[in-house]
Formats: sequence, C-alpha cells, structure tokens
Amino acid sequence: MNNRQKSKELIEKNKQWIPGGVVSLNRKSEPNICFTEGQGSRVKDLDGNEYIDYQAGFSASFLGHNDPDVNAAVAETMNSNALLMGAGPTDLEGELAQLFCEAIPGVDSVQICNTGSEATYHAIRIARTVTGKDHVIIMQGGYNGWHNDVACNVISSKEAVGPRVSPGEYPFDAISAGIPESAKHLVHIINYNDLDSVEYTLKRYPVACILTEPILQNIGVVKPLKGYLQGLRDLADAHDFLLVFDEVKTGFRHALGGYQSICGVTPDLSTFGKAVANGYPLGVIGGKKEYMDYFNHPDKDKKVLIAGTFNAFPLTTAAAIATIRKLGSEEHQVYDHIEHLGRMLEDGLNEIFADFDLDVVVARQGSAFCTYFMDHAPVDFHDILEHHDFEFDRAYRLKLIEKGVFNFPLPIKQGSISYAHSEEDIELTLKATRAVMEELLTPVAEDHKITP
Ligand SMILES: Cc1ncc(COP(=O)(O)O)c(C=O)c1O
Repeated sequence: MNNRQKSKELIEKNKQWIPGGVVSLNRKSEPNICFTEGQGSRVKDLDGNEYIDYQAGFSASFLGHNDPDVNAAVAETMNSNALLMGAGPTDLEGELAQLFCEAIPGVDSVQICNTGSEATYHAIRIARTVTGKDHVIIMQGGYNGWHNDVACNVISSKEAVGPRVSPGEYPFDAISAGIPESAKHLVHIINYNDLDSVEYTLKRYPVACILTEPILQNIGVVKPLKGYLQGLRDLADAHDFLLVFDEVKTGFRHALGGYQSICGVTPDLSTFGKAVANGYPLGVIGGKKEYMDYFNHPDKDKKVLIAGTFNAFPLTTAAAIATIRKLGSEEHQVYDHIEHLGRMLEDGLNEIFADFDLDVVVARQGSAFCTYFMDHAPVDFHDILEHHDFEFDRAYRLKLIEKGVFNFPLPIKQGSISYAHSEEDIELTLKATRAVMEELLTPVAEDHKITP
C-alpha cells in the first residue's frame, strides 16, 4: 500500500492552479492521498489502494458513501425540471423543515443554508439581535466553522494558549489571518465542562450566547460531565443569553432528535450540517419560534438577514429528506446497527490494548470514536494536551493507513462508523489494529495482562 505516486503527481499538478494543491487546506495531510471512489464503507485512491473508511467525508457520510436511496432521491429531483428558481418557496424545503421540527426537541422552525459555518454564523447574529449584547463564549477545543467569531483555538498548541486556567479564559488563537482585533475582543474561549469559567466570563462581559458542541467531536469524543449542559441551560436562563448547541457533528449521528434528545437539555438555537444530507452540502439553523422569527421581524432594525442563491438547493434538500427518512425507518434500524458495530469496535480495541503495556482509552458515542493514549477519558482540551501521547497517535494512524484502514492522519481526530459498515469491516479493522500494535510495541507477557 505504499504506492501513492499518482496521488503525489496530482497534488503537484494542482499546485499550479490551487494554492497548496488542495481545495480546503484542512483536507491536506501527510500522506496526502487523492481518493477517487467511495462506495459504502470503502474508499479507493488514485493508485488503486482500497481502505475501510472512518473519515466518512469529515463525518458527513453517515449512511455510507453513495447511499442508493439518497442518490435515487437526488436523481429524481434532477430530472424533475425544477432545480433553481430563485423565487418563492419549494415543496421540498417545506417538507425538510417539517421533518426537522418534528424530529428535534428544540426546533420549532428552521432556515436552510449550505454549510455548518453559515448556520453558526446566523446563530450568533440572531443571539446578538435578540439580546442586544455582542460577546460570545465558545469552547477551547471546539470547532464551529471558519468565520471571524469562531475561527480560533482549533487544536491550539500549549504554547499558544498557555496552561489550564479556571475560572478564566484563553487567548484567541486565530486559525486564520485577516480577523480584525475588534472581532477577537468579542469572543471568549473557555474550558469545556467548566461552569465556573462561564460565570467568570458572564461577570465581565455582556454575553449574547454560548455556542458549543454538546459533545466536543473535533478533538475526538469529549463528553459532557453530568449536569454540565443543564448548568449551561440554567445560566442562560438566569443571565439572559442564548444557549446554542452546534449539532453539526452530533446531529443525526447519535439520534434522529440530535444529541439534545439524548441529554434532555433543550437549547434556544441549534445548528446542523454534515450527516443531515449524507454527504451533500446542507446546513440548517433551527430553534425556538420566538428567536427564529427574527429572520422575519417586522422591525427593520431587528430583522436578521438570511439570503443565499443556493439555500435549500433542491438536490441537496432532496438528499436531506431521503437521509432523514432512512434514519427514521423501521426497516433499516440505522441507529441499532451502528451502535452494535460501535460496541464491537470499542470492545475489540479494548481487548487488543489490554495485551500491551500502555495507557489508552477508547472514547465513543454511537458511531463516533477516538482512541486517546492517556489513562483516562479527557474532560477538556487541556486534559488532552497534558496527557495524550500525540506522537504515538500519529504513528498509530499512519500504520493503520498502510494496512488499509483510513482514519484522518491527524492525532485526536474522531473516527466515524457509518450504516454501510459491516461486522466484517470491524473485524478487519481490529485485525489491522493488532498488527499495528505489534509493530509499535511489544506485547506484555501473559501473566502481566490487565483484563479490560
Ligand atoms: C461542530 C462543527 N460546527 C461547524 C462546522 C462547520 O461546518 P462546515 O464545514 O460545513 O462549514 C463543523 C465542521 O467540521 C463542525 O464540526
């Protein structure tokens, strides 16, 4: 599997016309592989190598690549002679909106856009308008998109953000140039799972909203401690700011009702993307009617703009409708299948790791998993920075890729099981994992084994 000559050549060729040779430079990795085919749980690269895929299009292909039902819905719409009218509503957008409102506890109405970043952008604008306040709290280790208010502190280095502080906040570690200083002053980055830091920030600044992934899934799988999300809800109610759950990664992955239906905490606004359209580009902002109505406020000074030539584009909207219908179908039992495979992977990994002398934890929620090389499940990003073995993680991922298991080769990136994965895929993954561990470490003697 070492032959990636054609991938290398394509990237070099593209560099003539695309800075860096790749569109969206967060797709760039070492090794940089050009994928040409995705079918179900498998992907193939330009050189003909095949992989079991856990990248799943940055977790968007939740049903698997090229799902036949989703593709059929897209094809039907493509042949319907009603692609982009740009005036008036479409029946598809109404149907999708209804499905959302019926499925998600905190959603009374929605607006549909194209990406998760657009959805979080709109959520912050609504929160600022509703509250008349400008400051925003986000989480260290969270990712909420590329715009000015949130393009910071994504897998920051310890040097950039300093040691763990509580209560307190961290410096704005921009992931993009061109963000004005005035914008940075309005954003406060705090520890996840740390209510004291929320209170600290609330005492100092007029806060419009907290925007958080309910589970941090851009640094693996960092789960909320008991009472944390409810604590955020209570603080939002007491201090008149909006609680926004960024469910771009968790939404539709863990339940049809989003993670909010599992944790029992209802946010004021929610954002969705990725899995909702199984690989087609679609974002959604939804929430309580009283806040969503600001998109159509009669007072010009309070009306929040939503516009976009391609918003609710029929092909992507049809893909989302087909995806949601399949996720909810009795026939497919998508969530049961995925939980079964997730459990099988988690148990199998724990069994393998028990044969080696190292600190390791498999964190998982449904289809989302991450192996941390540390002795406990992390509670926030600094916990990972301080305890996780990043070097070992990278070596582990690279060796798995060589054995035909593709997890993005960047430490602590979360893996995604899809509905298209099979027991055989998990068995092959476990077999590859054992081989990788044997190459990296010497197994412990039988009488020194720890039972998982
Ligand atoms: C939680 C979360 N929010 C927002 C985004 C941004 O979504 P998009 O890449 O569709 O703009 C992402 C993307 O990874 C994400 O993981």
